[in-house]
Amino acid sequence: MKGVVFTEFLEMVENRFGLETLDQIITQARLDNDGAYTSVGTYEHQELVKLVAALSGTTGVAAPDLIKAFGEHLFERFALGYPQLFQGVTSAFDFLRCIEHYIHVEVRKLYPDAELPSFAYEDHGPDSLVMIYQSRRPFADLAEGLILGCVAHYGEPIDVRREDLESGANNRSRFTLVRRRP
Ligand code: HEM
Repeated sequence: MKGVVFTEFLEMVENRFGLETLDQIITQARLDNDGAYTSVGTYEHQELVKLVAALSGTTGVAAPDLIKAFGEHLFERFALGYPQLFQGVTSAFDFLRCIEHYIHVEVRKLYPDAELPSFAYEDHGPDSLVMIYQSRRPFADLAEGLILGCVAHYGEPIDVRREDLESGANNRSRFTLVRRRP
């Protein structure tokens, strides 16, 4: 996993839980690099899982909730860091429909060794979008947080439902987004 994900995660931990908690989880996670990540480096994704487990132990917040909150935070950081990817995209559904064939394609140009999930889409009319996450890594919680972050970014009344279809060597989850009509 790219270092940018780790640097953003550690920054969120410091801002929300403080420097002491940050130091504590880096020690507890027993990382090879003592928490020194560069944004362009590449690291084992298990290190993020270890950091989240340590943060969960320290704060008492369930690990999936921490990863989801991180996803929401990360989306806002991406919006600030990659404004060019948002140009001309005016709704959450439009943005989310672009991930597979545009956003992550551009990400791969920036970081050729990025380990990205894949998304398949099912369209059910203007008020609903189904996207199926698939990855060898177990980050459906991150996908959920990023989706929620995207919905919050565009400020639209959209409900997100998740069904986990597969977990283990392959991970698949279906997200059903439905626009609420007044
Ligand atoms: C501007 C928007 C986005 C940017 C710049 C971006 C970029 C990235 C980057 C750099 C990674 C790390 C790759 C690696 O670790 O090697 C990543 C992974 C990931 N992205 Fe995106 N992404 C964006 C939007 C989204 C959205 C909206 C979703 C929501 C579904 C998403 C889902 C994921 C997931 C779940 C991963 C973790 C890897 C995995 O599950 O296999 N991304 N993305």
